Amino acid sequence: MTAPLKVGLAGLGTVGASVVRLIEGDRDALTARCGRAVEVVAACARDPKKDRGIDTSKLRWFDDPKKLAVDPGIDVFVELMGGDGDPAKAAVEAALRAKKSVVTANKALLAKHGLELAALAEENYVALNFEAAAAGAIPIVKTLREGLSGNTIARVYGILNGTCNYILTRMEQEKLSFADCLKDAQRLGYAEADPTFDVEGFDTAQKLSLLASLAFGTKADESAVYVEGISSISPADLEAAEELGYRIKLLGVAVRTEHGIEQRVHPTMVPKDSAIAQVMGVTNAVTVDVDGFAPLTLVGPGAGGAATAASVVADIGDIARGVRTHPFGRKTSDLSAAGKAPMQRHEGGYYIRLMAVDKPGTAATIATRLAEQQISMESIVQRHRGTKGGADAKSASGPVPVILITYATTEDAVRQAIDAVKRDKVISGEPQLIRIEKNR
Ligand code: NAP
Ligand code: HSE
Repeated sequence: MTAPLKVGLAGLGTVGASVVRLIEGDRDALTARCGRAVEVVAACARDPKKDRGIDTSKLRWFDDPKKLAVDPGIDVFVELMGGDGDPAKAAVEAALRAKKSVVTANKALLAKHGLELAALAEENYVALNFEAAAAGAIPIVKTLREGLSGNTIARVYGILNGTCNYILTRMEQEKLSFADCLKDAQRLGYAEADPTFDVEGFDTAQKLSLLASLAFGTKADESAVYVEGISSISPADLEAAEELGYRIKLLGVAVRTEHGIEQRVHPTMVPKDSAIAQVMGVTNAVTVDVDGFAPLTLVGPGAGGAATAASVVADIGDIARGVRTHPFGRKTSDLSAAGKAPMQRHEGGYYIRLMAVDKPGTAATIATRLAEQQISMESIVQRHRGTKGGADAKSASGPVPVILITYATTEDAVRQAIDAVKRDKVISGEPQLIRIEKNR
């Protein structure tokens, strides 16, 4: 019988503690599936005294993740601390240099330093596995890296952040405030240590850059992704979307275009009866458009300890079985630079919510500015003070919300029309602009 695989775990928070629970759970089944036993033998966290709801008494304790990473008593180093710099980066590098395979759930680290870490793993003939870094329990990394290795991929897109989808769902369905929903997402262990990464779209961008690398052979590069988050989405937008037959989702989209690989993250209005609109709560969904057959969609829990631990343990299982692939599915030297696609070229419908000054001629001015940019309107809704959705209209003579839905146009045209309307001084405040995607 092969000797047990000895695991050293840095980080015993939401994910780390769940990994210990899962490995300690049905040991016989895990041993049978991996062909050898898997044992957590050592761990590291900031506070050795914290009650984590797991038994740490038999684990060798380290205060320094880098020392754990090179300890001769471990075979695999599992990094679950988070953060795109040290100690995570230094510890992962040290482990790879010491010829220990690494498993991490840290998308921030990989989106910034993934290329150099993957090269280090290749040089040292060890694995760098990161299934848990994108879409929680959904095996999308393996699907892109191995399952679809014979196919040409045209597009990968989906809901990649559980916290944002949870917040949008509860705001829409239960009319709760953004702040209350975020607090619940933090309590449930979905949000990042700094939830700005979730709500401003950076977490989705980091995950998207990893998926784009696996799908298209680009170098994972967060800075190549256009990013907008959900913090500006108001109850008025969710209400208007509902009335107009849409839902708002934070989507990450990586698509092959004639100008290169476009990567973007932004709130998107999707038709209420589309498949992606049915994905609610902390659930994630990733769709892959491939040549030769209908799109492939994977749906499942995108965050939380148990869901994420499933992917971490699956990665450890591969190492136990002796499976090693190039971290990004091909040699790092074969990956190409990812350019940033300008959003001005983006084509599609737009939702525009303006606070229009309540005086004669305002509607005509707005219509003229849109017409100048050849923008056709699918619908215009003008709220009256005191009506549903007109909550932003504060006083009897104050501005009133006007909601415009355009037919397909370009982002450049929409931005130019809005700038002209602003110069005309017929609106107050910053207009809200949400892209509409009908073919999801
Ligand atoms: P967490 O609950 O905040 O846990 C972080 C752990 O790292 C804690 O145990 C903490 O120690 C330890 N740690 C932090 N800084 C350290 C340092 N300098 N030295 C030693 N230990 C340190 O975070 P998490 O939610 O488990 O997330 C961990 C990683 O998984 C992150 O990269 C995250 O992006 C990723 N991830 C999380 C989820 C999720 O749903 N939560 C899903 C997918 C991926 P103490 O406990 O002593 O403070
Ligand atoms: N904070 C992340 C999310 C964790 O909410 O999706 C999973 O990567």
